[in-house]
Amino acid sequence: MKADVLLGLQWGDEGKGKAVDVLAPDYTWIARFQGGPNAGHTLWLDGQKIVLHTIPSGVFRKDCQNLIGNGVVLHPPSLLAEIRALQEKGMDLGQRILISDKAHLITPGHRLMDQAQEAAKGDQKIGSTLRGIGPAYTDKYARHGLRYGDLAGPDAMTRLQSSMNTHRQGLVALGYPEPDDLDAQMEAWMESLQTLLQEFPPVDGSWLLNQALDQGQKVLAEGAQGSMLDVEYGAYPFVTSSHTTAAAACTGLGLAPSRIGDVYGLFKAYCTRVGSGPFPTELHDEQGETLRRAGHEFGATTGRPRRCGWLDLPALHYAARLSGVNKLIVTKADVLSGFGEVKVAVRYEGMSSHRDSYPNQQDACVPVYRSFEGWSLTPGKNYQRLEELPATLRAYLTFLEESLDCPVHWVSLGPDRHSTLQTRH
Ligand code: IMP
Repeated sequence: MKADVLLGLQWGDEGKGKAVDVLAPDYTWIARFQGGPNAGHTLWLDGQKIVLHTIPSGVFRKDCQNLIGNGVVLHPPSLLAEIRALQEKGMDLGQRILISDKAHLITPGHRLMDQAQEAAKGDQKIGSTLRGIGPAYTDKYARHGLRYGDLAGPDAMTRLQSSMNTHRQGLVALGYPEPDDLDAQMEAWMESLQTLLQEFPPVDGSWLLNQALDQGQKVLAEGAQGSMLDVEYGAYPFVTSSHTTAAAACTGLGLAPSRIGDVYGLFKAYCTRVGSGPFPTELHDEQGETLRRAGHEFGATTGRPRRCGWLDLPALHYAARLSGVNKLIVTKADVLSGFGEVKVAVRYEGMSSHRDSYPNQQDACVPVYRSFEGWSLTPGKNYQRLEELPATLRAYLTFLEESLDCPVHWVSLGPDRHSTLQTRH
């Protein structure tokens, strides 16, 4: 048995939470492999909006095990609050949330350093979610970090103290004021961590997943953020601090490349981005506003308005290539309903097609558009078959399949799990 991977092909917010929830009944394991509480996976269940930040999106399917993999960075108070919020809704999480012993911890110092570093960047700021993600991954690679399973070790407290001292020095160097209650924050942080450790003892995630695959169980690796925010392949430095492409499912979960099966690539029928950085197809006009309003394009984690624009085929092709995507999922096709004309960037000026080598910097990229006739979906209608969709939407999907040389398996036509059309098996 091989593990499948599901990831975003744009700048995040492609609707991965809902897609994982829809696919989850087919899987025994849903495993998050990177990122942290910078993610906001939104799900609508029975008219209720639920946003997950660290918990994998299989949690609403009672037969799914949900692993927070070693590639994730976790903030104990936020994770505990997320768990408690689900329990208050009456969910029995039992042993269905598992946390890798090797997942790194985000401390209050990481959050402060994130704020201090962003403030110091001035105009050059990345637009970080300020959740401490960058500093936590920095410390991981600088070998100053602490893992979820490290607390039992004899030197844990010394390492934590030393990490706190380093962050304090960092704040002084950046001229950023240390809050008066930092010690109290640290105490509350430690309490949350102890509670988590008691209720969710650290597990060897890699061993569990490999064993599950050996026994014929199905595993879906759930990505966060999007391929264009990958620290290696995104528009550096306007990226997140983890790898968001399929290779990260291997390192972030302890799975060998030979154990990877299908790779689902998700994208919206248009584009959005939060934070700073290049966005070649961004719409700065009324149409961008209309998209933002129609798609409720406000950050699930920070509430910031998302930048909106037309679909970008060169970027999409690049992202699909990086991850070896073999199944596409198109989301939010309903948001474009009522647009008389829909555009797609088919290449950038100077490129012969979207299949050319992707430029390292995209600030100067000028998109060349192709226009499509828009579509109108009937509000409230539950589309069951591809043939029921408007012909113009079908033509749009066929164009995308042919351009990306990859089949579309699912189309999402609304926020709740039932507004999802499977177009291929
Ligand atoms: P960080 O990951 O919080 O450091 O933020 C770095 C960049 O990634 C910023 O532009 C954020 O807006 C963006 N980012 C991080 N997480 C997400 C996400 O889940 N969706 C969309 N953008 C994100």
